[in-house]
Amino acid sequence: MKALVLAGGSGSRLRPITHTSAKQLVPVANKPILFYGLEQIRDAGVTEVGIIVGDTGPEIRAAIGDGSAFGIEVTYIPQDAPLGLAHAVLTAEAFLGDDDFVMFLGDNLIEGGIRYVVEAFERDAPAAQLLLKQVPDPQRFGIAVLDDEGAIVRLVEKPKDPPSDLALVGVYLFTSAILDAARRIKPSWRGELEITDAIQLLVEEGRQVRASLVEGWWLDTGKKDELLEANRVVLSTIVGRVDGELDAASSVTPDVVVEAGARLIRSHVRGPAVIGAGTVLEDVFIGPFTSVAADCTLERCEVEYSVLMERCHLRDVPRMEGSLLGRDVRISRTERRPAAHRFLLGDHAEIEITEGRV
Ligand code: TTP
Repeated sequence: MKALVLAGGSGSRLRPITHTSAKQLVPVANKPILFYGLEQIRDAGVTEVGIIVGDTGPEIRAAIGDGSAFGIEVTYIPQDAPLGLAHAVLTAEAFLGDDDFVMFLGDNLIEGGIRYVVEAFERDAPAAQLLLKQVPDPQRFGIAVLDDEGAIVRLVEKPKDPPSDLALVGVYLFTSAILDAARRIKPSWRGELEITDAIQLLVEEGRQVRASLVEGWWLDTGKKDELLEANRVVLSTIVGRVDGELDAASSVTPDVVVEAGARLIRSHVRGPAVIGAGTVLEDVFIGPFTSVAADCTLERCEVEYSVLMERCHLRDVPRMEGSLLGRDVRISRTERRPAAHRFLLGDHAEIEITEGRV
């Protein structure tokens, strides 16, 4: 069995972060999303991993290397353009050969790993095995309809009138039959070769397509609010540890990680939260569900329910929450006149202001 990890795509829903970075490398609890998936693939006993990369390929390669740090062997597979999940499968044809494989979307987080799905697939030997999760809002997802024996009878993309509430989680197990099906489908209305169409073809041809249900959480991290929610859920599972320095006027609750080289000066962190290596907090309050990456500097700020990437610099920000900051972001207060907000924002940046109402 091989693994095919999809780490290309355009990431349009996570702009402006994705103008400069791969969305699969955005950190959740200070660890890139993609790392969680690679670890789960390895823990399921799969070590030959192909990674589909697009424009952000160099960044993905720099982060993962040859895979040895994860105990896997990585082959990078460039995809010319993000033309759909089935297109990604076809792009990987030479790597996949005739082998069975697990396809894993690089921006998904799943609780409990994937070993049990891999085992079910190897035991039952269907043509495909999909991971599903019951969701409250099936209109937003690819949805599967099952028969009484748990076999999939139909797949529908983002149905207006959902026939079930079982969404396709971003983990699929396939035999090489999927390659043949992917070759025979046409692009959808959005111009993509849809994996759901290829799987539907397998179903229509009488191949067995089975399902496993995710028991724990499943988190798609494609948008800011989903990413913050993923950060909340993953932080809720961390075990606190203080390897950095706290002065006598600082405190942290037991569910806080302070990495080595981080310094807290007259600052308080109420977890769950992580404070990255080399980050300095001075007269700061960090509230629950916040991840501050390495080498940030915060002075006189209150931050809660947020993700800050490396080297952010915040000064005199009285209250910030529900925020995702990319690398090297600077926010500060000024005494300059006229008293006004001054911005230098990349394309698709989003700002919400509450002070200084006219
Ligand atoms: P999506 O989140 O469905 O697509 P996207 O990355 O283009 O994002 P957006 O909708 O915000 O523009 O993709 C799921 C995963 O699969 C993600 O990790 C990117 C990856 N992917 C590819 O590698 N190749 C592709 O052709 C597509 C469509 C996605």
